[in-house]
Amino acid sequence: MDDHVEMGAESARPDEGRRGFLVKVSAACAGVSAVLVGFPVVRSFVSPSLPQPRADGWVKVADDIALLDVGVPVRVNFVQELQDAWVESRSLNGVWLYTEDGDKFKAYNGHCTHLGCSYVYDKDLKHFFCPCHRGQFDVKTGEVLAGPPPRPLDELQVEIRDSAVFVNYRDYRLGVSDKIEA
Ligand code: FES
Repeated sequence: MDDHVEMGAESARPDEGRRGFLVKVSAACAGVSAVLVGFPVVRSFVSPSLPQPRADGWVKVADDIALLDVGVPVRVNFVQELQDAWVESRSLNGVWLYTEDGDKFKAYNGHCTHLGCSYVYDKDLKHFFCPCHRGQFDVKTGEVLAGPPPRPLDELQVEIRDSAVFVNYRDYRLGVSDKIEA
């Protein structure tokens, strides 16, 4: 009797294995479908309203310097189109723009120099704060104040043209102490 029960229990295991496998396959298919369906939605959501850098990297990040707050950094996002062989992709990038006097502007690449996470402005600390590994950066200089980032924030070239602010967007290698273009 015991033998029979044991045999029954053993024979149920392959079924459970098959069921588990089918559940995993279904979940994977659902995930792929969600990505395929979701991508055009995200794309159409971010495309029309956000600026795009030109081929030489320059992108307009503010229409009028008079509208920017003095002493408070602002993040500006934009869509970047990338062409790698025959694969075309788009990524959402951004810069932090900062001015102390409304006249001279600083711009920092929006990726943390440690592993590339997006960082935020902590209004209480008045520092940039990266939530991934608690990196902190000085707003005025981009210097590292705390955490593992190996170099300051990557400062970008800024130009004011007819009151509009343009930034020359560049990406740099992550996790290294030297600022080397990626
Ligand atoms: S990615 Fe910013 S501290 Fe690690």
